[in-house]
Amino acid sequence: MVEIDPAFRADVLRGLAEPVPAIPARWLYDRRGSELFDEITRLPAYYPTRTETALLEQVMVDLPTYVAPGGAVVEFGAGAATKTPLLLAAVHPKAYVPIDISGEYLEASAAVVDADHARVAVHPVIGDFTQDVVLPSEIDGLDRLGFFPGSTIGNFVPKSAAALLGHFRDILGTGSKLLIGMDRIKPVDRLVAAYNDPEGVTAQFNLNLLERINRELDADIPVDAFAHEARWADMLGRIEMHLVAKRDVEFSVAGQQFAFAEGRSIHTENSHKYGQRGARLLLLAGGWTPITEWLAPHEAFVIILCEAHPDRFAP
Ligand code: AVJ
Repeated sequence: MVEIDPAFRADVLRGLAEPVPAIPARWLYDRRGSELFDEITRLPAYYPTRTETALLEQVMVDLPTYVAPGGAVVEFGAGAATKTPLLLAAVHPKAYVPIDISGEYLEASAAVVDADHARVAVHPVIGDFTQDVVLPSEIDGLDRLGFFPGSTIGNFVPKSAAALLGHFRDILGTGSKLLIGMDRIKPVDRLVAAYNDPEGVTAQFNLNLLERINRELDADIPVDAFAHEARWADMLGRIEMHLVAKRDVEFSVAGQQFAFAEGRSIHTENSHKYGQRGARLLLLAGGWTPITEWLAPHEAFVIILCEAHPDRFAP
């Protein structure tokens, strides 16, 4: 058995015992989960990645009007950083600071950027961007542009999302800018299809969480007793992923017993979608003033550029 991560165990044991069982989405992204997510981004039904990447081409044409060259680009959750080369080619920063929890991914992406952009100094930071992050002193005095693509903000409930945006503001400082991608509200059938692909990759991605629990937490969950489900929660403006018990099941995790009656579910991920006002208001609530935005065809996705203005005296 793999060495037990105490934070993973605590979240799973606590989450399974909650009145509405839920496990934080970040645990979906182990090595296998990240591979499956990568596969998801290439599925015909999963429109966000390809829509945002296409939209970025247009953003890059306009961005030099708003962002001066010679600054620092700070990417939150760089991951595979596939969209980054586009951004760097457009803004010509002096430095690029990818922040990611996975050192492995970070080194690989930093190497790609290093090779392609010989004049950009890469300063990777291994860490969790929701926690304290210390930016490298090499970018002291440079204008900062934060980059938070992928609609990752949608993973957070609005209260946490606003707090996270405020945290980014604290990290980057007033006067900084942020380029952020957000998925838009659209017809429910398209939304649900994106999280319930016919190939079943999203189902595998979701069910991998149970396999991970079995692998890492000394558990015996009968994975075949659970089904992947994607639901649109209209009042909350979000897609929810659940693992629903197909029959009554009992299992143990790290020595603790659990019983799930048929139909009971474990909530595993949220993906919030925003309308035009909602997107802008969320940014404002996090201390970011929208400057301009780029909308994908059919209003499928939006990329917003905003700025952290200093707090003003009344009004
Ligand atoms: C990585 C959070 C942006 O919400 O669309 C995709 C995650 N989960 N399919 C999303 C995800 C299932 C994705 N984000």
